[in-house]
Amino acid sequence: MKVLILFVTYVVLVTSTEEQFKLKVDYYNRLIQNALKQAKEYKSRQDNSDYFKDIKNEDGITDYGTFDFIVVGAGSSGSVLASRLSEVENFKVLLLEAGKLDDDLTEIPYVMNLLQSSDRDWGYYTTPQKNGCYGWKGNRCSYARGKVLGGSGSINYLAYARGNKGDYDKWASLGNPGWSFNDVLPYLQKLENFEADNIDRTYRGFAGPVNVAYKIPKENFTWIRNAYLEIGVKTIQDYNGKQQFGVSRIQRNIKHGRRVSGATGYVRPSSVRHNFNVTVEAFVTRILIDAITKSANGVEFIKNGRMFVAKARKETIISGGAINTPQLLMLSGIGPEDELNKHGIPVIENLPVGKYLKDHISLQVSYRTNISVATKSFCKYIEEYLNGEGILTNLENSVSISFFHTRNVSASVPNVEIVFFLPTPITKPMPPRSNFTADAQNYMEKLDQHTNIYFTIFLLHPKSVGTLTLQSNSPRDFPLIDIGIFSDPEDKEDFYKAIQIVNKIGKTKAVQMVDAKQIDYQFCNQFLRDSKEYWYCALEHMALPGMHMSSTVKMGPRRDPFAVVDSNLRVYGVRKLRVVDCSVIPTTISGHYNGPAFLIGEKAADIIKEAYNIPLQL
Ligand SMILES: Cc1cc2nc3c(=O)[nH]c(=O)nc-3n(C[C@H](O)[C@H](O)[C@H](O)COP(=O)(O)OP(=O)(O)OC[C@H]3O[C@@H](n4cnc5c(N)ncnc54)[C@H](O)[C@@H]3O)c2cc1C
Ligand SMILES: *[C@@H]1O[C@H](CO)[C@@H](O)[C@H](O)[C@H]1NC(C)=O
Ligand SMILES: *[C@@H]1O[C@H](CO)[C@@H](O)[C@H](O)[C@H]1NC(C)=O
Ligand SMILES: *[C@@H]1O[C@H](CO)[C@@H](O)[C@H](O)[C@H]1NC(C)=O
Ligand SMILES: *[C@@H]1O[C@H](CO)[C@@H](O)[C@H](O)[C@H]1NC(C)=O
Ligand SMILES: *[C@@H]1O[C@H](CO)[C@@H](O)[C@H](O)[C@H]1NC(C)=O
Repeated sequence: MKVLILFVTYVVLVTSTEEQFKLKVDYYNRLIQNALKQAKEYKSRQDNSDYFKDIKNEDGITDYGTFDFIVVGAGSSGSVLASRLSEVENFKVLLLEAGKLDDDLTEIPYVMNLLQSSDRDWGYYTTPQKNGCYGWKGNRCSYARGKVLGGSGSINYLAYARGNKGDYDKWASLGNPGWSFNDVLPYLQKLENFEADNIDRTYRGFAGPVNVAYKIPKENFTWIRNAYLEIGVKTIQDYNGKQQFGVSRIQRNIKHGRRVSGATGYVRPSSVRHNFNVTVEAFVTRILIDAITKSANGVEFIKNGRMFVAKARKETIISGGAINTPQLLMLSGIGPEDELNKHGIPVIENLPVGKYLKDHISLQVSYRTNISVATKSFCKYIEEYLNGEGILTNLENSVSISFFHTRNVSASVPNVEIVFFLPTPITKPMPPRSNFTADAQNYMEKLDQHTNIYFTIFLLHPKSVGTLTLQSNSPRDFPLIDIGIFSDPEDKEDFYKAIQIVNKIGKTKAVQMVDAKQIDYQFCNQFLRDSKEYWYCALEHMALPGMHMSSTVKMGPRRDPFAVVDSNLRVYGVRKLRVVDCSVIPTTISGHYNGPAFLIGEKAADIIKEAYNIPLQL
C-alpha cells in the first residue's frame, strides 16, 4: 500500500514537472516571438517627450518625501551604490530609475540586440561625425544606452574584462588617491563570484553578487587557440588575473546561463529592505540646488504624468551614465558657463562638464568559412536555456578574448583587444538598432551568421576626444553626443596595425582549415585590397563607438582642466552632490566597462559610509 502511494506520488510529480517544463518552454517561446514582433514594429525614441505627454499639473508638484540619500539612475553603478547604502538600517535610500523593471526577457542573452529596439533603450544617435560613421545615414552612429532597471548592464553584451592594473595605477598617478589597482582590487573581488577553478585565486573574488563564468566549450576554443599559437600568442588561463596578454576563453556575466546585472545581483535582493525605496519609470528632470548655499537637496522628477519633488537630507547622487549625468548636471546649472549661457540656464557652478568624452572604437572583420553548424528546433534551444546551457545563453557565440600592444612589445598595458566569434546555429533575432546607408546595409546583408567567423577589434586607448553638450535647456530634448570618432588621425594608424594582427590570424593554417575568406567592404574596392587606404576607408565607414563611454564628468584634482569631481566623487563647488558612474572615469580602461561601473558603485558606497562613520566590511 505504502509503496503504491509512493509510486503514484512519483508519477504525479514527474508528469507535473514535465508538464511544467513544457509550459515554461511555451511561455519563453511566446515571450521571445512577441518581443521580436514588437521590436520589428518599434520606432526608436527621438526625444524624451513621452514622459511629458500626459502631464497633469493641476495640483502642482507632489511631495515624494524626504530621504537621506537619493540615487538617480539604477544602472550598473547606481544599482550597486544604492543597494550598498541601504545596508545601513538608518539610511533611508531612494533609487529613481527612468526605465521599467527588468524581466524574464532581459535575462536572456540571445535577445540583447532586440532590446535596443524597445523602450529599454534611450534611442540615441551621435551628432554627424566628420571623420567616421560614414556607414550610417547622416554620418550618425547609433549609441545604445539602457533605460531599464540595471541600466546598460541590462542590455549589454555581457563580456567581463575589468582592465589592466596599469589603468587604475594611472588614475591614481593623475592625482586621484584611493584609485590605484591595489586600492580597487578589494572592491573588484568583493563584487565578483568567479565560477572557475584551476586559476590563480589571488586576484579574483568568489562570493560577490556579480557572477562571472566561462561557459565556452573547450573544443570550441581549441582551434582558434591553435591559430593564435601559430602567430606566437600564448594561451593564458585568466585575463582578469595577473597576466593580461595572450588569448583565453571569454568570461561573461551570466549565472546558470542568464544575464547578471546590477538589477539581478544587487537591487532585487536588497529592495525588500524597508529603508530602500526603488521607484521605476521616474524621469529626473532637475537637481534642486540652493543657489546661495550651493548645496543639493533633492530632485524633481516625472512619473506617470505627474511632477514630483523628493528631498535628500544627506546627499543627492547622480548615476545616470556618461550621457545622461552630464546632461542633467548642465540642465541644473552645473557646467561650462558659455554652454549654459547659450541655453539661458542660470549658472550655479562653472565646471567643464561634457568637455572630455572618451570611448573605445571597434570594428568587426568577418570571414566566410565552410563550417556548418547543426541546427535544432527553437524550442530545443529554449529547453537548453532553461537548463542553463546552449546558444540562447550566448547570442554571438563569442569564444575568446586577447590583448596586444601594436607599437611596443614590452608594454605592460595593451592598446588593442580582439574578441573572436564562431558561427551560430541560430540567426540573431535582430541586428543592433542602426540607420545604415545602402552601402553598409548591403555589407551587413552579406554576413551569414551560420557560416561566418569574425573578430571584433577594440582600440582601447584612442587619442580621439569628443564632447557632450546640450541641444536646449529642456529635459525633453536629447543631449548632443559628439563622440569625435577618429578626430585624432593616429587612431586610424593604430587601428590599421591591429587589423594586421587579424589578417595574420586569418592566414594561419588553423583558420585556413575552415577555408576562411575575408568578406570585403565592397564600398572600399576603389582602393587596393588590404592597402592602408582600403582599411582606412573600412574604418571610416564601419568602425563604431565601443559602447564604453566615459569621462564626461571627469574625476581629477582641481588643477586638471577637465576635472568636475574630486577623488571622493564630490562635484567641485557644490555641497551634498556626488556623481557615481562611468562619467567619472579619468582615463580609458583596457577592458569592458561594466565591471569598472560596478567597482565605482562599490567603492563609492564605502567612501560615503566612511564619511558618515559607518564601519566598513571589506
Ligand atoms: C549595447 C551595449 C553593449 C555593451 N557591452 C558590454 C560588454 O559586453 N561588457 C561590458 O563590460 N560592458 C559593455 N557595455 C558597457 C556597459 O554596460 C556600460 O559601460 C555600463 O553599464 C555603464 O554603467 P553606468 O552605471 O555608468 O550607466 P548605465 O548602466 O547606463 O546606467 C544609467 C542609468 O540611469 C538611468 N537614468 C539616466 N538618466 C536618468 C534620469 N534623468 N532619471 C532617472 N534615471 C535616469 C538610465 O535609465 C540607466 O538605468 C555595453 C553597453 C552597451 C550599451
Ligand atoms: C516609495 O515612496 C513613495 C513616496 O513616499 C511611496 O508612495 C511608495 O509606496 C514607496 N515605495 C516603496 C516600495 O516603498
Ligand atoms: C536615419 O537618418 C536620417 C538621415 O540623417 C534621418 O532623417 C532619420 O530620422 C534617421 N532615422 C532614425 C530612425 O533615426
Ligand atoms: C562548439 O561546441 C559545441 C559543443 O561541443 C558543438 O556542438 C559545436 O559544433 C561547436 N561549434 C563550432 C562552431 O565548433
Ligand atoms: C614600452 O613599454 C615599456 C614597459 O612599459 C616602457 O618602459 C617603454 O618606455 C615603452 N617604450 C615606448 C617606446 O613607449
Ligand atoms: C573546408 O575547407 C578545407 C580547406 O579547403 C578543407 O580541407 C575541408 O575539407 C573543408 N571542410 C568541409 C567540411 O568542407
